[in-house]
Amino acid sequence: MPQQDSRARTALVVVAHHRADSLTAHTARRAAARLEAAGYRIDLLDLRAEGFDPRMTVADQPDWGDRDKRYSDEVHAHMRRVLDADVVVAVFPVYWQSVPALLKGWIDRVWNYGFAYGRSKPRLAGKRILWLGLAGATADDLVTEGMRKILETNLSEGIAYYCGFAHSAVGLLTDAEERPQRVDAEGNLRIGDAVAGAEREAQYAAFDQLALEYVEKFLAEESVPA
Ligand SMILES: Cc1cc2nc3c(=O)[nH]c(=O)nc-3n(C[C@H](O)[C@H](O)[C@H](O)COP(=O)(O)O)c2cc1C
Repeated sequence: MPQQDSRARTALVVVAHHRADSLTAHTARRAAARLEAAGYRIDLLDLRAEGFDPRMTVADQPDWGDRDKRYSDEVHAHMRRVLDADVVVAVFPVYWQSVPALLKGWIDRVWNYGFAYGRSKPRLAGKRILWLGLAGATADDLVTEGMRKILETNLSEGIAYYCGFAHSAVGLLTDAEERPQRVDAEGNLRIGDAVAGAEREAQYAAFDQLALEYVEKFLAEESVPA
């Protein structure tokens, strides 16, 4: 077990997937292990396992006339976990070039008015976030570069920097499917054959390695002023 002390910084690792045996959950566990090895205390938030309901409620809807609104106890408990974290690492499958509803709803309900935004001094100021998105598209798919840009604009600019984060990085993990997916010149989604044996092992090893590189880069950027 890595050494932990009261001064250890906390990493909130948010997993947004409906299956515990998914590649997403596997990637989140590996990212958490790497962060723990770097000295972080890990708070693992598996949104589905914890029963988080992503649907907005009246209790958690912002009141634009009251930035000190008391939201639901559930949301306040999540806000506490975000506040206690020095870094947030969100791991999710890319759905429609965005985050899945589970993660989107967590942001909608928890990163709320008066807490995450709407104050001259944002409460999340100075925190750092890594978004690790798993995508079915292959690295050489024509849609991939556009998807990367959309995710960066949406997640880093639209959400993290808007909420005062000091640093936000998007790690796009393509080739997350066993069977390669590419959109051809006519716009048809071509699903290739699954690879097997050593080739498949190599594919997963390359995938794990890329995920690790994103985490390493994020950790290395820590010492660089924003
Ligand atoms: C509703 C839905 C939307 C998806 N949209 C995209 C997409 O926009 N781009 C992409 O590359 N893959 C997309 N995919 C593929 C997923 O990203 C891929 O299945 C997932 O990352 C695999 O990881 P998992 O095994 O952990 O679910 C989509 C899958 C689903 C089910």
